[in-house]
Amino acid sequence: AAVVEHTFVVRQVKMTHLCKETLVTVVNGQLPGPAIEATEGDTVAVHVVNESPYNMTIHWHGVRQRLNCWADGVPMVTQCPIRPGRSFTYRFAVAGQEGTLWWHAHVACLRASLHGALIVRPRNGASSYPFPKPHMEVPVVIGDWWDMDLEQLDRNMMDGYFADSQTASTINGKLGDLYAGCSSAGAGAGAVEEEDGYVLDVEPGKTYLLRLINAGLYAEYYVKVAGHRFTVVAADANYVTPFATDVVAIAPGETVDVLMVADAAPGRYYMVALAMQPPEPDPQVPVASTRGMVRYRSRSVVPSSNGEDVPAVVPDMPDMHDVDTTFYFHGNLTSLRRPAPVPGRADERMFVTLGVGSICREGETCERSGSNESIIVATMNDVSFEDPPAAAAASLLEAHYHHRDDGVELRTLPDAPLRVFNFTDEALIPWGPVEARLEPTEKETLVRRFRHGAVVDVVFQSTSVMQSGSNPMHLHGHDMFVLAQGFGNYDAARDVPRYNLVDPPVKNTVVVPGLGWAAVRFVADNPGVWYMHCHFEFHMSMGMIAVFIVEDGSSVDSSLPPPPVDFPKCDSEESLAVV
Ligand code: C2O
Repeated sequence: AAVVEHTFVVRQVKMTHLCKETLVTVVNGQLPGPAIEATEGDTVAVHVVNESPYNMTIHWHGVRQRLNCWADGVPMVTQCPIRPGRSFTYRFAVAGQEGTLWWHAHVACLRASLHGALIVRPRNGASSYPFPKPHMEVPVVIGDWWDMDLEQLDRNMMDGYFADSQTASTINGKLGDLYAGCSSAGAGAGAVEEEDGYVLDVEPGKTYLLRLINAGLYAEYYVKVAGHRFTVVAADANYVTPFATDVVAIAPGETVDVLMVADAAPGRYYMVALAMQPPEPDPQVPVASTRGMVRYRSRSVVPSSNGEDVPAVVPDMPDMHDVDTTFYFHGNLTSLRRPAPVPGRADERMFVTLGVGSICREGETCERSGSNESIIVATMNDVSFEDPPAAAAASLLEAHYHHRDDGVELRTLPDAPLRVFNFTDEALIPWGPVEARLEPTEKETLVRRFRHGAVVDVVFQSTSVMQSGSNPMHLHGHDMFVLAQGFGNYDAARDVPRYNLVDPPVKNTVVVPGLGWAAVRFVADNPGVWYMHCHFEFHMSMGMIAVFIVEDGSSVDSSLPPPPVDFPKCDSEESLAVV
């Protein structure tokens, strides 16, 4: 096993899209940032040099970080952030997992510009893939572009409003020809051109492995390539039983690997990523679609047979309000190789409702929820997560490790629904003012503790106040077996017997269907303090988060080792001097 080393210099650069120069914080001047390529069993060492004005952490999304919670990269939860002018080296093994993962900043909305692929290849090379060896492997990172400061965007969201800003969807950092950019003559000259799109050149008859990553802040995407079909072979770096489809549904935080054979007539075919939206137009969620292109290279010397003179083919996309296509796409996933048998029964249960509520602004008395004196927050069981204060002496993980967390005010997640409530009652859906449907809410650091090795069942129940967008729930440090999903209200008597205990998909991000539910099981066997949250930035910034604390096991190799010697400190005075 090798050590794969990278240096990530985090710095602000100017980029121009949508006719506007914007200051963006990126790694090594690139958007998306560098792809990390490793082999299963390798150690990855990333030296993060923070030359940005922001506190920084990088999270290695989907890396299990066995006995290595210290490298998980969640500010004030697992570590004090890397202050401006400082650096820190993340070190972790990529062991026992292979496939497509990714990395991103875990600070405010900054992950919109600070992310990249993290690819783990099998030890025995590409011939050990459980599918035909591809001619080429291509990361396809779907993201979004904002023409505003991303920290400001975050503050706006926490205040419950979206400032006027232009946004666009991207494939591998390119906006594509659905957007108008500007010629070098400048916008003033009136010479507006199309934005560049991502282009994949293919050779006829060859097979391509597309490693799709949704790094976007806001939207689940439908992805298609005109004239081509995909064979889905993996999701969240776990192999799935291959199935054919012409459309991939991918929510923020998810990865999906597909094979695509270049078996169409030579020509040009659009690759489209369409941002989905809940059925009822929600003005707060920007809609966008982006397109790149699959272009056939042909050895023909006759230009007309290269297809260059024929217009590029546009795919038929699902409706942007279509919620069934994602439901069935995710329902089709079954695991190909089970890393371990699914435990037959759970030791602990949790019922988590995903909602939106309102809390009173400080110093105000709010007569009703949703009034001007209150702000809108996202919740789990009517609690909106309160981050540990940035001024704290240490992260929750350090406090836990040093057994200093007894005094921390923590609120536990319940086993059962909080109240008798029809979560998805159609009668509640009339899309009136959201304010009328808000539950009063509290802000607390929501935590649940597990003894080492506990088998945990979680039911995520979406509520009508979410309208019908799906919620991608991501758990750090563990993969989850997705046992079942459904529309409407979860009903244990009806749904437990339908659990798939044979070949459930294994995911780090489970898509909870809009106006529906998903049931997962995981084994809490990785000691540490782990974030569990919705991967929609909109929901996360507003508090749809909880923390799972997994206790040490009884032996040294099931206990969390001490922190790295150069672990960032929280001493704020010293760091202020550095800025
Ligand atoms: Cu990819 Cu906590 O996130």
